[in-house]
Amino acid sequence: MTAETKSDKIVSLEEQYQLATYKKMPVVAERGEGVWLFTSDGERYLDLYGGHAVAGTGHCHPHVVNAIKNQADRLLFYSNLVYSEARARAAEKLVSVAPESLSKAFFCNSGTEANENAMRMARMATGRENVITFGGGFHGRTADAISATFLGKYREIGKPNVPGHLKAEFGDIESVRAVADDSVAAIMLEPIQSMAGIKMAEPSFYRALRQLCDARGIVLIYDEVQTGVGRTGEWFFAGSDAGDGVAPDIVTLAKALGSGIPVGACLVTEKISSQIKENDLGTTFGGGMMAMAAVTATLEAMENDEMLANVRAVEAHLRERLKEVEQVVAVHGKGFLLGLEFADKAKPVHEALLDQKIITGTSSDPRVLRLLPPFCLQKDEVDLFVDALQKVCAQS
Ligand SMILES: Cc1ncc(COP(=O)(O)O)c(C=O)c1O
Repeated sequence: MTAETKSDKIVSLEEQYQLATYKKMPVVAERGEGVWLFTSDGERYLDLYGGHAVAGTGHCHPHVVNAIKNQADRLLFYSNLVYSEARARAAEKLVSVAPESLSKAFFCNSGTEANENAMRMARMATGRENVITFGGGFHGRTADAISATFLGKYREIGKPNVPGHLKAEFGDIESVRAVADDSVAAIMLEPIQSMAGIKMAEPSFYRALRQLCDARGIVLIYDEVQTGVGRTGEWFFAGSDAGDGVAPDIVTLAKALGSGIPVGACLVTEKISSQIKENDLGTTFGGGMMAMAAVTATLEAMENDEMLANVRAVEAHLRERLKEVEQVVAVHGKGFLLGLEFADKAKPVHEALLDQKIITGTSSDPRVLRLLPPFCLQKDEVDLFVDALQKVCAQS
């Protein structure tokens, strides 16, 4: 009989006491540093999944850790009923990196909450109820957001669904025109559909959406919970060339925004913010000092370390090296939101890579392996990954 390790003990405790709602990898995370995750048994994993797209600045970036520690010494929390330097600085910093038209921030705690508030603002601003979202988009698990999620089983889990949701096909502007009547408050989309297997539309699609929204008085919402805060090699998909420079009326954010401290946000135009009155939106923890310190430090760390340029350079290197792997038939996405398409199922590749101590992600497209690494990933770490991928593919 082999001796029980520290990791074994933790696994059995968690399985005994935590609701079994997640399919977990056999990894017990203890410590992180940049792109590396260390387990309780002292093993080291290359994290190309970034803790579920959250560790944008890498695990435990020292600038972020210091900011959180300093804030913790001063004040852990006070709500939005008082002013705070931490909140003022975070809002200013976030708005300063956003497209110019997005001039105000509303802070909350998660991606789903940001989307719920974005849809609410659109309904308030237009006096209409319906929201168009797209097949394959994922927007969260609270009632309104899951009802907006036309992907796999999610709407089914979320039953009874909230009324006021209409579906269109991603990339197909005619399917949007067909449902965009004067009952529609908003069109909301993941500009790159992540969970669906990293699906992007043509730049002209985003432009056509903007034109349709302008013509019919509809609010355009980009759910940038995954694409935002640097993941595509730009601060946001909004305003980027991949989206033909289109700026939506609302951008929602979470994931990488706080480097792991829970925080979500909506960035909105003056036109939307002018329609929102006192008490229309609110949340106890949104805008709390710890989260705000993490937001400012996250954005500063990205600037200090020139992470956007790094994402672009390392993406180019990765794409070049992936040409050597014949089993990879296509590479989808942008920056560090990439989908590697295989001719066959991707899950065995994900599992074999895990055996090689490399963490990747799957998606709802069985042939697509997702990479969502920290923005500090370097070329030599990409080489480690591609070498391991070649080995794994040769063995299968
Ligand atoms: C695009 C997108 N929107 C919304 C969400 C929901 O975010 P959260 O889990 O923080 O509620 C997610 C989470 O995976 C997401 O990927």
